[in-house]
Amino acid sequence: MRRNALVACLCVACSSTPDTPPAPAVVTFPANFLWGSSTAAFQVEASDTHTDWYHWANTPGKIKNGDTPDPKGPDALNNIDADIGLMTSTHQNAYRFSIEWGRIYPTADTFTNDTPDQVALDAYSLVLSKLKAAGITPMVTLHHFAFPDWLSDVTQPSQPQGWERTGVVDQFKTFCGRMAKYFGSQVDWWVTINEPLNLVVGGYVQGSFPPGVLLDLTRGLNVARTEALAHVACFDAIKQNDPTSMVSWAEHMRTFHPYDETDPDDTTAANRVRYIFNDWFINSVVKGDWDDDLDGTYTSSPNDKQADASLKGRADYLGINYYSDTLVSASKGVIIPVINAAIYQAGMPTTRPKTDFAWDIYAEGLGTVLDEVKPYGLPVVITENGIADSGDVMRARFIAEHLYQAGWAIQRGVDLRGYFHWALVDNFEWANGFCPKFGLASYDPTTKARTLRPSAQTYATIIQSASVKKADIDAMPAYGAPAVTCQ
Ligand code: FCB
Repeated sequence: MRRNALVACLCVACSSTPDTPPAPAVVTFPANFLWGSSTAAFQVEASDTHTDWYHWANTPGKIKNGDTPDPKGPDALNNIDADIGLMTSTHQNAYRFSIEWGRIYPTADTFTNDTPDQVALDAYSLVLSKLKAAGITPMVTLHHFAFPDWLSDVTQPSQPQGWERTGVVDQFKTFCGRMAKYFGSQVDWWVTINEPLNLVVGGYVQGSFPPGVLLDLTRGLNVARTEALAHVACFDAIKQNDPTSMVSWAEHMRTFHPYDETDPDDTTAANRVRYIFNDWFINSVVKGDWDDDLDGTYTSSPNDKQADASLKGRADYLGINYYSDTLVSASKGVIIPVINAAIYQAGMPTTRPKTDFAWDIYAEGLGTVLDEVKPYGLPVVITENGIADSGDVMRARFIAEHLYQAGWAIQRGVDLRGYFHWALVDNFEWANGFCPKFGLASYDPTTKARTLRPSAQTYATIIQSASVKKADIDAMPAYGAPAVTCQ
């Protein structure tokens, strides 16, 4: 089976071809660049009990090693001073975190009557004021996978849940508007929904996220459509209450290659999956081009439309989460209905270095996806990028290589405004529990004391110089071997 062409160009030194300019010796970042790291409420908060994920994580068999977020998690809301200390000591000037809908409104009645939990409002407000005092710009996500449990019942997967519930778009719009009203004076950067398509893959293809449905693309794509409408509604609600803010969502973008590059069907399948995963949502809410059946055309469905004013222009910037590459086969493996392809994201038969999560390290792909979004003409922020590396034997080089690619993309004209490393601190990695260690810092599960990993210093040094030199990357040790395997 192949792979040679695919793996031929993994280092920055060999990234030029006769058609492309040579790799620059140094890349630099503009003043006011947002240098930050990311977390999400359910992954770092304690006692996040009014969420579907809380019930899911406490259902036997759902999470690797039977991990549950409590009591072993980093308890971010009660350790914000320590977390800000991690940020300031590494010269970060920005922090992306999420506000949990189910914490603010723990029951349907509290939401309907708009009687939010005052302790929760105060907790998030305190986080925001402490960030401000430390000179750190917040970026706030309003939906990062978890739903309030009154909107998503993990015991009823065959019933409509979460984004499938009648009225959910209006409810989310209401939540967004209220949050913008409460916190708008403290927040300039908003993310409406994190990774709309990953929720579809986890919840309706792999069954590893609530509601735990397997291979039901009819339901899954319906969810994707609803998420696009929910983003538009949330964007408008934020703008009504916080007109000068920057609003986007976080799009999980990947590169896609044919599993067998000699097989034209695999190439077609890779292009189809890339379109659905990378392009479809952006086209919908930025251009107003609505491809209702996700077939790549605007003519095949009666609901298709282009440049639709009720959809377009709903992004002040593009939030991009980038992690790795995907192989796509038209014939080998579990063929996912509707998209008619099998997808490989972990343990792939490539010679690239692998993380603890068995994902390929493929920094060049970050450059590829940044080039893909350049034609939209919007500012771009890398809202997530990181690595599961419990031994901290890969993260320093990973950060340097990815920031080099980011800086190079700026040279090519991408209006990149920021980079948020996933994650600030180790946390609950969804279905994989506490095994994958994505943090710039580890923490003691009992005392919650944080410890920066050595690689955090590499990030700090890059931030301080606002540059990455190719020669410095070349002088770094090669990627170490994964200390554990978390898949
Ligand atoms: C992203 C998620 C984030 C985290 C990282 C590793 O897809 O947005 O919550 O799980 O992966």
